[in-house]
Amino acid sequence: MDPRDADASRFAGEALANGEPTGWFEPLYAAASGGQAVVPWDIPVPHALLPEWGREVDGSGRSALVVGCGYGRDAEFLASLGFRTTAFDISATAIREARRRHPGSDVEYVTADLLNPPAEWIGAFDLVLESITVQSMPPSLRAEATERVAGMVAPGGELLVISGIREEGVEVDGPPWPLTRGEIDAFATGGLRPEKIERLPLPANPETSSWRALFTR
Ligand SMILES: C[S@@+](CC[C@H](N)C(=O)[O-])C[C@H]1O[C@@H](n2cnc3c(N)ncnc32)[C@H](O)[C@@H]1O
Repeated sequence: MDPRDADASRFAGEALANGEPTGWFEPLYAAASGGQAVVPWDIPVPHALLPEWGREVDGSGRSALVVGCGYGRDAEFLASLGFRTTAFDISATAIREARRRHPGSDVEYVTADLLNPPAEWIGAFDLVLESITVQSMPPSLRAEATERVAGMVAPGGELLVISGIREEGVEVDGPPWPLTRGEIDAFATGGLRPEKIERLPLPANPETSSWRALFTR
C-alpha cells in the first residue's frame, strides 16, 4: 500500500466495521487538520485528466457542481474556466479548509451529502463533475450514488465522470473501489446519454489508466 493511503484505509476500516460507509471522511479530515493524518488526494493541482478536457471549454454563463470536492482543487479549476461553481462535500472540515485555502474564491463551498442533496440541486446544473468520489464510497452505495449524481444535471447539461478502472468481476478491498465499465455506463440514467467514454493513461503514470466519461442530457 502507498504510505499516503494508510490513514484513509485505517479510518475507513473503522467506519465500515461500525456500519457507517461514509463515516470515515470527517474523522480523516479532522485528523489531517491537526497534522495527525494524511489525506491521500490532497494534491494542489486539478485531477490530471481535467486540464486537457478543459482546454476547449468556456464556462461563461454556465453553472457547475463539483461532487465531493474535498479541498477544492477541481472546483477552482472549473471556476477558472468561467463556470459559476458550487462545490460540496460531506465533511464540514474539508469545506472549511477549502474556503481557507482559496480566499476570495468565486466558488460556493457547501457541506452536503450526495445521498441526501438539497432539493433545489435536482436537475439544476449545466455541468456536474464527479471525480473519484463515487469510487470512494463502498459498492453497496454505488447505485444510489450514481443516480444522485446523474439527477443533478440540468436538461441540456453535461456530466463528466473521472474514476479509476476496475475490470468486471475483479473484487477489490477498498477504499477506493474503482468503477467497472458497467458502473460507468450506469450514469446514463434519467435522460443522460453517453457522449464519449475513454480509458486514458495518467500523464504522470502512463501505466495506470482512468475513466473519463462525458454524458449529456
Ligand atoms: C477521494 S476524495 C476526492 C476529493 C476530490 N474530488 C478530489 O479529487 O480532490 C472523495 C471525497 O468525497 C467526499 N464524499 C464522500 N462521500 C460523500 C457524500 N456522500 N457526499 C458528499 N461528499 C462525499 C469525501 O469527503 C471526499 O472529500
